[in-house]
Amino acid sequence: MIELTAAEVAAATGGRLAADPDVRVTGSVVIDSRLAGPGALFVALPGEHVDGHDYVPVAVGNGAALVLAARDVDAPAVVVEDVQTALGALAREVLRRLRAAGDLKVVGITGSVGKTTTKDLLGQLLTPHGQTVVPRGSFNNEIGLPLTVLEADASTRFLVLEMGASGIGHLTYLTQIAPPDVSVVLAVGSAHLGEFGGIEAVATAKAEIVAGLVPGGTAVLNADDLRVVAMAEAAPGPVVTFGTIPTADVRAENIGMDRSGCASFDLRVRGAEPVTHPVQLRLVGEHHISNALAAAAAAIQVGLDAAAVAAGLAGATAISPHRMAVTQRPDGVTVIDDSYNANPDSMRAALKALAVMAGRERRSVAVLGEMLELGPDSRAAHDEIGRLVVRLNIKLLVVVGDGAGGIHDGATQEGSWGDETRFVPDVETASALLRDELLPGDVVLVKSSNGSGLWRLGDELSGEVRA
Ligand SMILES: Nc1ncnc2c1ncn2[C@@H]1O[C@H](COP(=O)(O)OP(=O)(O)O)[C@@H](O)[C@H]1O
Ligand SMILES: [Mg+2]
Repeated sequence: MIELTAAEVAAATGGRLAADPDVRVTGSVVIDSRLAGPGALFVALPGEHVDGHDYVPVAVGNGAALVLAARDVDAPAVVVEDVQTALGALAREVLRRLRAAGDLKVVGITGSVGKTTTKDLLGQLLTPHGQTVVPRGSFNNEIGLPLTVLEADASTRFLVLEMGASGIGHLTYLTQIAPPDVSVVLAVGSAHLGEFGGIEAVATAKAEIVAGLVPGGTAVLNADDLRVVAMAEAAPGPVVTFGTIPTADVRAENIGMDRSGCASFDLRVRGAEPVTHPVQLRLVGEHHISNALAAAAAAIQVGLDAAAVAAGLAGATAISPHRMAVTQRPDGVTVIDDSYNANPDSMRAALKALAVMAGRERRSVAVLGEMLELGPDSRAAHDEIGRLVVRLNIKLLVVVGDGAGGIHDGATQEGSWGDETRFVPDVETASALLRDELLPGDVVLVKSSNGSGLWRLGDELSGEVRA
């Protein structure tokens, strides 16, 4: 964060000054009073369960210098009509100043799957080449994005932003706060279909990140996804594509998969020397090739060369938890914990990785919970996944919870399954069943939407090593 006076915060947010205008914010901008440190700006957001205004004394006790609030509080404050909007306005102004003062590149990343993985990859690629700010966790909404922007300061060279959207207009809002120099669109898939009301609406919403570029900014588009390449029409400047098809500007050739489920490929960049750079990924799952290419294309746009990108990708690991996190247990069981989130695309990807990792010698076990927010097609989508499990020859399927019942039905209808598919009502029952069932050598995938709670099972199954 750059230093700001209370007067400057008031000017940026259009708020009323209820503090000495010279009070200085010298620390970070926080929404959690417990995270406030000396000189912090405490943003008092009204939450679902708690109201930030009630925590002003805690924030001030921890050293907060100023509060951004919706009403007068017992502390130096800037009072605004809507705190969330004001947070966005402050981030926009700080970014404007940082851009005016120096050489800062902003990369925005959106898509139905892979945003967090790609921003983590890009963060790892860029960090050795200049001070880089990357969102913590999955900070990608109207609160997390401005908070991430506000972490940048005069020394920041690269600001990587994850931009999430669950409706039309969301990305327009985020890009108004932080118009990217480079916008990356990963895929238009079935995530949040229910809220959007159809895949074309998802495409329209994602295209907003392209329209929201700075004038002349670069759109980095997935050449393997027709709905994404079509966004070139909305681009205000250059378009760069990535993918596995020969026409992609940044592409993967000679793709291979090793037995640990990691992909390798030759990275080729159009326009660069006619050489390829071998890349061996450390992330598990074929689907990460696409994320790696997206990160590569973005990194090249902000100045890295292909050799540096290839070297960076080879060293990059999965940072955020519960995403294809592989644990080798001492009892010989391998656990793949991918319980952070799930939609049909990521389910398919994870199941394929499970099949590859188990190969012919090991028993594959899929423990699957509900994919949430799929709207009216939900039942059919779960049914499809059940059928895929059978086609991939997964040896044991454990379906957890009523909402995931369609997976069980699909699997049952696709083949003659007796004991090979089990339905259990909850995580506890699944846990007991797995304790009895798992044998040395098994490879177990745990996956569901976050809200379905299978991450507890993921923790438990992999944690037996840590204990
Ligand atoms: N390109 C992809 N295709 C299919 N699944 C993917 C892809 N990228 C990531 N995933 C899977 O999707 C889930 C969410 O990944 P994440 O990177 O957190 O995406 P997001 O931030 O967009 O929700 C994880 O299970 C991950 O393994
Ligand atoms: Mg995310």
